[in-house]
Amino acid sequence: MQKKRLGILTSGGDCPGLNAAIRAVVSHASLTYGWEVLGIPYGTRGLSGRKPPIELSTCDGRGVDPLLATGGTILGSASKGYSGESVEAILTGYEALGLNAIVAIGGDGSLRIVADLAERGGWNFIGIPKTIDNDVGLTESAIGFDTATNTVVDALQRLSSTAASHDRVMVVETMGRTAGHLALHSGIAGGADAILIPEVPYSIDSVCQKIHDLKILQQRHFALVVVAEGAKTLSGESRQYTDAQGNTRLRGIGDYISDGIYQRLGDRVEVRVTVLGHVQRGGMPSAFDRILASSFGRVAVDLLAAGKSGRVVVWRAGDVESVPISELCAHCPRLVDPQGSFLATARGLGTYLGEFSPVFERASAARLQQSELTASQV
Ligand code: F6P
Repeated sequence: MQKKRLGILTSGGDCPGLNAAIRAVVSHASLTYGWEVLGIPYGTRGLSGRKPPIELSTCDGRGVDPLLATGGTILGSASKGYSGESVEAILTGYEALGLNAIVAIGGDGSLRIVADLAERGGWNFIGIPKTIDNDVGLTESAIGFDTATNTVVDALQRLSSTAASHDRVMVVETMGRTAGHLALHSGIAGGADAILIPEVPYSIDSVCQKIHDLKILQQRHFALVVVAEGAKTLSGESRQYTDAQGNTRLRGIGDYISDGIYQRLGDRVEVRVTVLGHVQRGGMPSAFDRILASSFGRVAVDLLAAGKSGRVVVWRAGDVESVPISELCAHCPRLVDPQGSFLATARGLGTYLGEFSPVFERASAARLQQSELTASQV
């Protein structure tokens, strides 16, 4: 088989498992097919050639390959598309590197950008989905989601013991952008009493009702409220912030929920807020993320060897398949299904999950009023 030269890049927010995917691509391409693999620094902009490519080789075989267990990406990543490089510079750079194909590891935004460049430049291209948000369409899992879920669950375990020690309500803000997968899965696994996600509007009255019910009906004097950064009120409002560079960011929902609880139950509860932030993007990849990343990397190389291009590997029913990038993009972002099984499980556990209908909102306000009367008699 003709010796090929493969470029590999990581683009968008980093996550645990990226290096495991890089390791699988390099190992399979060089050991099985005798191909050369070049690491492209800092995502698509690295193709412009402004920074030299990174030589990648398989581990020298002594001990567990550090790539397998190291978080982040040894190639560096960029979250803002071309990051100031022109399309022409990138297309020229690809040619100058003498690449035969690209493997791009990214979220939906990054994969769209690389697919567009591949279209313009006539590149061979295979995508690998990664993001702790798990909002890439058509794949049940993206690299990074499982590890981030475990990270949030670990935090919830730690917070629940201190909440119980002080009879406090802990509001825990997670990442996830416009999707609630991370909050929902970690909330279920971490025993949250309320899980607020962008896909189901919430009412602070109902959150307070839940806190109240725990106290009155279950004699439990602490609570865990997990809130995704993009969660919205019934009127569709999320909490945003414009940073010094003019970027609008999702931020502040944890404090907003805490203030709302204090306004309603201030004399009866103590609330503390934990914003997990980029802790959720770090750490050693979980076993599942290592298996997912290694499987994705191996299949991506096999697809190129079979002459395939313009496809993205996806995880379905415990195995790797691939779909056309156009089809994948048409199903992004993949949001939590309000009628889906995970929400039904959380609901079955008595978790408050937001208002499934405005009627619930009125009923919860009435119940809160009623139970205030009860509380005053406690
Ligand atoms: O997409 C992954 C993610 O971590 C989101 O959950 C989060 O909103 C965003 O990236 C943060 O972006 P940045 O790393 O640029 O602050």
